[in-house]
Amino acid sequence: MNFQHRAQLQPLLLPNLKETGKELGRGAYGVVTEVIVSGTTCAAKKLHDAIVQDHTLKKFSDAVLLHSQQSHPNIVQLIGVYYPPRSQLPMLVMEYLPLSLTQCLEREELPLQMKYSILLDVAKGLCYLHGKRPPIVHRDLTANNVLLTSSYSAKISDLGVSRLADTFKKDHLTTAPGNAMVMPPEALEDNPVYDHKLDVFSYGCLILHVLTGQFPEPKNQFVPEPAKPGKEKSFTKVSEWDRRSSYIKNIPKENELLPFAKDCLHDDPTGRPEMIDFLQFIQQIISKFPKMKNRPVIEKELKNAIQEKEEAEKKLDEERKVAERIIRELREENAANKRENEDLKKEKEKMTTDLKTLSSRVTGLQNVLSLKENKFNESTRVLKETIRSRDEQLVKQQEDNMELMEKREIELNDKHSA
Ligand SMILES: Nc1ncnc2c1ncn2[C@@H]1O[C@H](COP(=O)(O)OP(=O)(O)O)[C@@H](O)[C@H]1O
Ligand SMILES: [Mg+2]
Repeated sequence: MNFQHRAQLQPLLLPNLKETGKELGRGAYGVVTEVIVSGTTCAAKKLHDAIVQDHTLKKFSDAVLLHSQQSHPNIVQLIGVYYPPRSQLPMLVMEYLPLSLTQCLEREELPLQMKYSILLDVAKGLCYLHGKRPPIVHRDLTANNVLLTSSYSAKISDLGVSRLADTFKKDHLTTAPGNAMVMPPEALEDNPVYDHKLDVFSYGCLILHVLTGQFPEPKNQFVPEPAKPGKEKSFTKVSEWDRRSSYIKNIPKENELLPFAKDCLHDDPTGRPEMIDFLQFIQQIISKFPKMKNRPVIEKELKNAIQEKEEAEKKLDEERKVAERIIRELREENAANKRENEDLKKEKEKMTTDLKTLSSRVTGLQNVLSLKENKFNESTRVLKETIRSRDEQLVKQQEDNMELMEKREIELNDKHSA
């Protein structure tokens, strides 16, 4: 690299910079990576070598210097430049912004108030650039080049980059600055002559993009006229506004910004409004919305919500532990009950067998008893019979004795009397 240009950028040189190696994104003109400068996270853009060639180095340095001199809350701040080891081309080190408007529009449906607030921020940034003497024309105002802070404040980025890209595009057979889809007709001519109204046109396209969430790609600029017999086929020029009419259909007719967007897309630059007029207009509209919560309030609410969630989780965890303990105890109790049940079952089975043995023994004993009873009764009967016959014998003997005694008495008496 020419040392003269290196010297020109010397005041912007950042001696201490750490590359984290994290890629933040890629665009048409280069790669953006994360770097740390004095402990602060920043973004560093390395332009393609093809954009900055030796013969454009002067332009490059001028653009970087011009950017570094701009300071506004709605313009991405250029912090400095850094030459990576063995590189002749410096990286542009900028403040870090977490989100681009394109990413945001693809990702979520923003509330209308938020969309207006973003458009207001961009309008403020543009007013600042257009208010410079001579006015600074951004020339590449698209949602890609609107970056957002974490609280959705918007900042315009890539100031001066499209200026450099002109040279690149010339080398690549196209002279139009910026993204042709959002360029006014005067910028798309062979030798374009344009002023800050170029940005106003792009801003009108940005309004449509933000309101619909769709990039307002224009339809054909010329449409064929209905064929007339004997006449040559002819074409009608469609106005820039009508070329994007399919997108306008998606926006409620009563939307306050539509008339302004239409004015911005005026085919003739002199018919387009100044950004400063829009600023007052949109500020008035926004003031009618209920005041948006500012970031500290949202952060406090978020912190409280997180704390509440953590406490609830802690409580839930404790309850879960108690429930687990109860389940464990119940399981143990269940297992003990099961064991007890099995023991009882075994005992019952044993008792049933014992009872069976016992009852068969009782039956046996009963049989023995009844046998013995029968025997006893028989013996008793025999005994009674014996006693009765003995008694009879005794009575008979007694009677015999009595008879004998009477006989003897008679004999005795007879003897005596004799
Ligand atoms: N200052 C920045 N902070 C964080 N990320 C950035 C910054 N500038 C650009 N980026 C990221 O790098 C991507 C590429 O940016 P850029 O090269 O400007 O291309 P484009 O403008 O076409 O998106 C962006 O989409 C964005 O995600
Ligand atoms: Mg960009």
